[in-house]
Amino acid sequence: MDQHSTDVLTDWNALRTGVPPVWARYTDLVVERASGSWLETPEGERYLDYTCGIGVTNTGHAHPRVVAAIAEQAARGIHLQQNIVYHQPGLELHRRLPQRFPNADPGTEIGLFLSNSGAEAVEATMKLAKIATGRTAFLVFRGGFHGRTHGAMSLTTSSVKYRSHFDPLLPGIHVAPYPYPLRMGGETAALATTMAAIDELFATVVAPEDVAAVVVEPVLGEGGYVVPPEGFLAALREVADRHGILLAVDEVQSGYGRTGRFFATEWSDARPDIVIMAKGIASGLPLSGILAPRQLLEKLLPGSHGGTYGGNAVACAAALATLDVMDDERLPERAGVVGDRMLSELRATAERHPHVAEVRGRGCMLAIEFTEPGAVTPRPDLAKALIAAAMARNVLLLTCGTYGQAVRIIPPLVTTDDEVDLALRVIGESLEAIGA
Ligand SMILES: Cc1ncc(COP(=O)(O)O)c(C=O)c1O
Repeated sequence: MDQHSTDVLTDWNALRTGVPPVWARYTDLVVERASGSWLETPEGERYLDYTCGIGVTNTGHAHPRVVAAIAEQAARGIHLQQNIVYHQPGLELHRRLPQRFPNADPGTEIGLFLSNSGAEAVEATMKLAKIATGRTAFLVFRGGFHGRTHGAMSLTTSSVKYRSHFDPLLPGIHVAPYPYPLRMGGETAALATTMAAIDELFATVVAPEDVAAVVVEPVLGEGGYVVPPEGFLAALREVADRHGILLAVDEVQSGYGRTGRFFATEWSDARPDIVIMAKGIASGLPLSGILAPRQLLEKLLPGSHGGTYGGNAVACAAALATLDVMDDERLPERAGVVGDRMLSELRATAERHPHVAEVRGRGCMLAIEFTEPGAVTPRPDLAKALIAAAMARNVLLLTCGTYGQAVRIIPPLVTTDDEVDLALRVIGESLEAIGA
């Protein structure tokens, strides 16, 4: 522990009460430094961070190449405002990121709009869809999480806590069930139920020609880390094409290599119209954006959307370094290897635990769902107990699911085999300890 930490330790612990309770909190840890997969407290206690700051630090904490890019750009200029000037990292990002558009039609020029948070990118999507189609309604999925600003909150149905007391929300938001195989009788039945519910919505509640966009997570995040049945995005593409609706994929949590491909949409052949990005995009600096064909993106008229900080120069430099690290260290591939191993070992462990209804996931987006044995009655108490038991063993995990009944495991994509061994051992011991 250095002199600096000793001086401020007491103050920092006391100062925690100054942070308002709106920041619902998993731990009381004060972190002094973070590197790779690890967080360290001022007392020198180390925690394996398999939360990734809610799916952000895909390149690990403080990757040296990201840190160097940030420092270099900060010394040249921090705030080079987008409405006033261009800056080099921003221009370079506008060149490189569109190349990542999933399943693009050859020859389609893709454009990029940059903002600060996932919710802001969702707002941009909603405004773009409205102006481009002249329609105002949206179709979303039960359990979806798209952010907490008024527009994004109106699309969010992962938990009532994000919505209650905030009426009126936006009108014209229509919710179909997300195809959740565990809770909807398996993959085939889940997909059929979802698509039938969309047909029913169109027949009873909203005319499809009033719907501007379908907004969907290619893997459900906050709502439970649910991998949809194969064919889901393709079926949505078909519905969208039939009715002139835009298909917007919210890749905020599932993108940036997390599922083993750069975007989770790449697990299907479906071409989206809009890709929503944030979290992993700049390894922790606030940056978000949408990708869309230029012809579509240019429907947003000058000044009709934007923000003081959108496309910040330092954040763009971090985003470029993040792309380099993703490519050079083959992080999507690594996510696949780590994820496959964790999935199969956790599934084997789960056989000894009757309250584990399912271990699921894609790449490094993994979840363990707890229910009453042989039923789907959620057991959020066990999910909470598991993350507490893991934390007592210095491994950090999060919950997810509408009832908080699942534990999500979000390793950084740079995690080492030794760290995976440790996490698997701790999760195994913790499952024993909580009597799951
Ligand atoms: C899928 C998804 N969309 C949007 C958001 C909102 O992002 P932000 O918290 O940066 O506003 C989140 C955040 O968790 C998310 O998981």
